Amino acid sequence: MHEESTAGPSARMHETTGENEAVLDLVLEYSRNRLTARDLPLDKSVSSADLRRLAPPAVTEDGIGAARAMAVFEHVLAPACITTDHPRYLSFIPSAPSKAAAAFDIVVSASALYGGSWLEGAGAVHAENEVLRWLAGEFGLPAGSGGVFVQGGTLGNLSALVAAREDAREAARGRGTAPGRWAVVCSAEAHSSIASAARVMDVDVVAVAPGEDGVLRGDAVRAALAEHGDRVFAVVATAGSTNFGIVDDLAGIAEVTTERGTWLHVDGAYGLAGRLSARRRDLFTGLEHADSVIVDPHKWLFAPFDACALVYRDPDRGRRAHTQHAEYLDTLTETKDWSPSDFAAHLTRRPRGLPTWFSLATYGVRAYREAIDAAIDLAAEVGRVIAGRPELSLVREPQLSVVVFERVGWSKADYDAWSARLLDEQLAFVTPSSHQGRPNARFAIVNPRTTIEDLTAILDTMA
Ligand SMILES: Cc1ncc(COP(=O)(O)O)c(C=O)c1O
Repeated sequence: MHEESTAGPSARMHETTGENEAVLDLVLEYSRNRLTARDLPLDKSVSSADLRRLAPPAVTEDGIGAARAMAVFEHVLAPACITTDHPRYLSFIPSAPSKAAAAFDIVVSASALYGGSWLEGAGAVHAENEVLRWLAGEFGLPAGSGGVFVQGGTLGNLSALVAAREDAREAARGRGTAPGRWAVVCSAEAHSSIASAARVMDVDVVAVAPGEDGVLRGDAVRAALAEHGDRVFAVVATAGSTNFGIVDDLAGIAEVTTERGTWLHVDGAYGLAGRLSARRRDLFTGLEHADSVIVDPHKWLFAPFDACALVYRDPDRGRRAHTQHAEYLDTLTETKDWSPSDFAAHLTRRPRGLPTWFSLATYGVRAYREAIDAAIDLAAEVGRVIAGRPELSLVREPQLSVVVFERVGWSKADYDAWSARLLDEQLAFVTPSSHQGRPNARFAIVNPRTTIEDLTAILDTMA
């Protein structure tokens, strides 16, 4: 039994009181039920007008109380959010946090951990670094590589490219030259976050056409570098394109970047998890030459939103670009301690790598490899089913766990109507995509609970 607050009304929110223990019970019970539920609906979004009608204003002078707020969340707000870890959520890149990872996210919040500096969060940073070192080892990067977990692939790509440009600027200063405009070379099929980073940085994007198979190769990159010369501060290779899960020819591209001394960044936000599978390991040969890489644990490494692992081959190059200097921060920046804030465009951060650390510790790396193998095998299997149905055709052979296919004779409107019907009937969430102007359907598979029966049931609706 805890004492009721004696510190006056201002401490009501922070003291351990009967009221706050009840709040805690409510929240933990909901979380436990959500994480142990066996058959969650997919749910779907609801219009803003309906939500205004269904959810009473909660942010008022007196509040509405935890019990009512929790009820609004459970019965109105949560059902208006698609269940992203549902086995038949197959759009975009899904998320499928392991039970241990999702549960440990609660611990991270409960512990009020600060993950920006070693001074404040040494223990948490140590554990995050253990994960980053493990990833670096899997990727073939040298001992001494390191980085930080950031919010997502977009911020990871931006932070890596800022470091690359800083490096190129220093080199250009050394040569006494400076290009009018900097440029980054990438595949025309690179993720939109590369163009977004370029806009933020006010640099040009040189988008190079990949081969018919979607793979960007060394000779195409060599030609782009010959044309654009020293103004290219980085080449981005994609290790698992978003639309198709295709891996660029990392070895061929690395040969060119090594020759020319150009920074190689590998965007493996989705696909680099595939490197953990013995089945596809060879696809990533050349990765070991990268200057920076990203992979998002919230995609295919079974972590909750939001987490992107950014690893630099030489972390000092990240630090030179990103460390913030201010009088009140001197106590942090004057030491040699490893402070995660120093490696990306951020300062305050939660140690969002901890759920991955806990999950890896709980289940072991082998369980991850097996779950990734399973998604690759399932993609190959459904690819064969599609190839065997006369009304369907594969757009490209799946390399990792994305399967793109067409329904012969369907227009964009047909795909849209079909996708809406699947969600209305709560069968699946499969948004249409397109390639070279032709509409198609796309399964992105990361959830170990997705089965071939789930996928064939969806294909049956296209007959
Ligand atoms: C290849 C690739 N890079 C970058 C991103 C952006 O990641 P985020 O959505 O976490 O910012 C994605 C997202 O799907 C992606 O597939």
